[in-house]
Amino acid sequence: MARISLEKVRELLAQEEERFARLRPRSRALFEEAKRNWTGGVPMSWMRIWPGGFPVFVAEAEGVTVVDVDGHSYLDLCLGDTGGLCGHAHPKIVEAIYDQMRRRGTTTMLPTEDVIWVGRELEHRFSLPAWQVLMTATDANRMALKVARSFTGRQLVLCFNGTYHGSVDETLVVNFFGELVTIPGMLGPIVKDASLMTKVIDFNDVDALEEALAPGDVACVITEPVMTNIGIIYPQPGYHEALRRLTRKYGTLLLIDETHSLCAGPRGVTGEMGLEPDIFVAGKFIAGGYPAAVLGFTREISDWMASRLPWHNFFGFGGTLSGNATAVAGIRAALEHVLTDENFSRMKALASRMEQGLARVIAGHGLEWYVARIGCRVEFRFLPKPPKNGSEALFSEVDYNAVDIVSEGLTGPLDALIHVWCANRGILLTPVHEMTLVGPAATERDVDRYVDTIAGLVEELVS
Ligand SMILES: Cc1ncc(COP(=O)(O)O)c(C=O)c1O
Repeated sequence: MARISLEKVRELLAQEEERFARLRPRSRALFEEAKRNWTGGVPMSWMRIWPGGFPVFVAEAEGVTVVDVDGHSYLDLCLGDTGGLCGHAHPKIVEAIYDQMRRRGTTTMLPTEDVIWVGRELEHRFSLPAWQVLMTATDANRMALKVARSFTGRQLVLCFNGTYHGSVDETLVVNFFGELVTIPGMLGPIVKDASLMTKVIDFNDVDALEEALAPGDVACVITEPVMTNIGIIYPQPGYHEALRRLTRKYGTLLLIDETHSLCAGPRGVTGEMGLEPDIFVAGKFIAGGYPAAVLGFTREISDWMASRLPWHNFFGFGGTLSGNATAVAGIRAALEHVLTDENFSRMKALASRMEQGLARVIAGHGLEWYVARIGCRVEFRFLPKPPKNGSEALFSEVDYNAVDIVSEGLTGPLDALIHVWCANRGILLTPVHEMTLVGPAATERDVDRYVDTIAGLVEELVS
């Protein structure tokens, strides 16, 4: 096994950070200026998580290309951490949104004819008959959990260790060797005793699932069909069947959140594996990057909701902008023109090429890292093999120089180095992990360029 010296990582990181800052004077100055009026210097604190000391300010973005205000052009493999998966400024999305806004306004709190097409298409893809549109996947998950609690008359939600479903309090909890704790560093605590709202167990553990559901107090299990936020973790054979069987047995609703895993294909993992959720959520790129999320229900839940008018007062979810006609037009355009079989088969083939290229680089240098892929999403991690659940991913021994949460923040110097190294060579990676998304406008050349860039860094580090 090859060893990477931490000293070398830090030395290279200092050089790359110096170069990053020196070549981006305009972004750096704008960031300093923005600190006066924006908390942390940015309109949303997430924009601070990019390594390099400051975020680049964007001048233009199209397809998989982003140009910053200093004139650097980047191959964008981050794609807004999935929100931009359809590609920036996709002509069909721009056309649909422009047409909607010009002819019928952005929002009237009234439906348009597009809802008929979109409703049918969502039913066809994800096999649930009744839908709502919200602004974000976080919104949709919050609404889904409220509905599940009201519908079942139960209070608890069950989620899996290491999961992320947006800024949804019930799911921002970790099971730390039997203790429920809010995620370290989060503003909180949300409630003093998280066990009043949440049970947290590990994915892929059928016995723990039955034990958690058996008391009959869980309103809803919320899960990704393939975990993505703690690294890509696939369900073990038979796990989804057990999940469905046990949730039905104990009267618990099953909520499948495909906000990320929809990158598996046009029908998501739900469509591909024939899953049967009671509630379904997808957001981020569902309207081609325009803010929107879809929330699907069984007929039974939907009829029950429809009978409880007025919904708004009764449930307290959504808002006046939810379901706006521009979002619906964006969803139609994305489903009709971008999230198609043809596009996905290209994107998946390119992502597979990337996966194989990275695996070759890693093996060729004797590193004990693994590569994983779901659809057009590819990542490598500083672990010898994929974990089978969140606990393994959260608490297992990572390569010692990769993550030092105590002294280096959420991610370690190696992670920071990879990101800044790539940015200095014209490639944007998703912050916080070594994750890339292959958008519809990407090419073989783009993929090979990224693999070569990682190979160049690994060469420096291992030699
Ligand atoms: C699986 C999953 N669900 C929901 C969300 C929330 O999405 P948003 O931040 O767009 O509301 C995320 C965000 O990363 C996610 O990964």
